[in-house]
Amino acid sequence: MLEIEDLNSIKEAVVKLNGLKVVTSNRVGKKYGFRENKGLLSVFTCREMEVIVGNIQEGRDFSLETDIYFFELQAKRTVSLHFHSKKGFLIVHDVTEEKKLNEAKLDFITSVSHELFTPLSASKMNVYLLKDLEKDPEKLQILEKIERSLDRMETVIRQSKFLAMVQLGLYDFKMEQVKVKEILDKVLEDLREKIDSRKINVKLSVSVDMLETDRFVFYTILKNLLSNAVKYSYPESEVEIFVSREKLTVKDQGIGIKEEEKERIFERFYRGSEALKMAPGSGLGLSIVKHLCEMMGYKIEFRSQWLLGSEFIVWFR
Ligand SMILES: Nc1ncnc2c1ncn2[C@@H]1O[C@H](COP(=O)(O)OP(=O)(O)OP(=O)(O)O)[C@@H](O)[C@H]1O
Ligand SMILES: [Mg+2]
Repeated sequence: MLEIEDLNSIKEAVVKLNGLKVVTSNRVGKKYGFRENKGLLSVFTCREMEVIVGNIQEGRDFSLETDIYFFELQAKRTVSLHFHSKKGFLIVHDVTEEKKLNEAKLDFITSVSHELFTPLSASKMNVYLLKDLEKDPEKLQILEKIERSLDRMETVIRQSKFLAMVQLGLYDFKMEQVKVKEILDKVLEDLREKIDSRKINVKLSVSVDMLETDRFVFYTILKNLLSNAVKYSYPESEVEIFVSREKLTVKDQGIGIKEEEKERIFERFYRGSEALKMAPGSGLGLSIVKHLCEMMGYKIEFRSQWLLGSEFIVWFR
């Protein structure tokens, strides 16, 4: 059987409780003041004390993140608390440093993207004005190229910021019952131009009306997978989307992925050698999809044959 002393080397405090009394704790637990026979109320205090005490007394499992004042440390720490009623274990994970670091990183990302957006908007506005004044078709073509590059820069900045937030765990997802058809329609509408310009035939096979998920996450995953299927397909080919309670599948008959490129496609900014020639992109799409899947506890798999096609599957559970 696992003894609490076996847990002396881990960074979380593990406390064995009997009601509200400490039976024993590991080394980190003792550092926070969880000593034998002490009542929890004399170890720490916080705003959620009533909820914590209520749950422990009534034997309900809970997890929460909060700021706690530890009497022994005479200091406030940000911790995530988990209570396992069956074993009577309270696990205290100190996330103070992690939180500070994440805040600093987010602050940096937000400032950088803000500082980039301002001159970018100004440049876009000026290109727009120049285009209005310019009559020479050659110069107009150059201005349109500049405009496209600026649009791509904007996408990269926006996507990098979103990806960083997801990676830092700062995107607050909200689970709700989502109408699958609504999301599908929105994604198809957003990609309509791409789909029509390549004359792609999108086939839908949906066996579920509602899914419990985060609306924006589901939309982003589907949009990125479908965008790839369309971008890397031959004109007039077929793309199939299947949605069921268990999984989402996007299957195409496109260029496929070379064996030697398969292990890199989820990397940030990675773009396949043929993909580069076929369509514009930032190489962030699949990286975002991967991190969103990790956050939601989904599993993503793909099968692909070079020159024949690819299939991406997201398992919801
Ligand atoms: N359905 C697909 N068929 C063929 N290759 C694919 C497919 N999906 C992804 N890839 C390969 O994986 C690479 C990474 O995909 P990812 O979506 O991350 O970036 P991207 O599509 O190039 O750019 P964007 O950031 O605009 O999505 C692509 O450049 C391409 O080489
Ligand atoms: Mg993509």
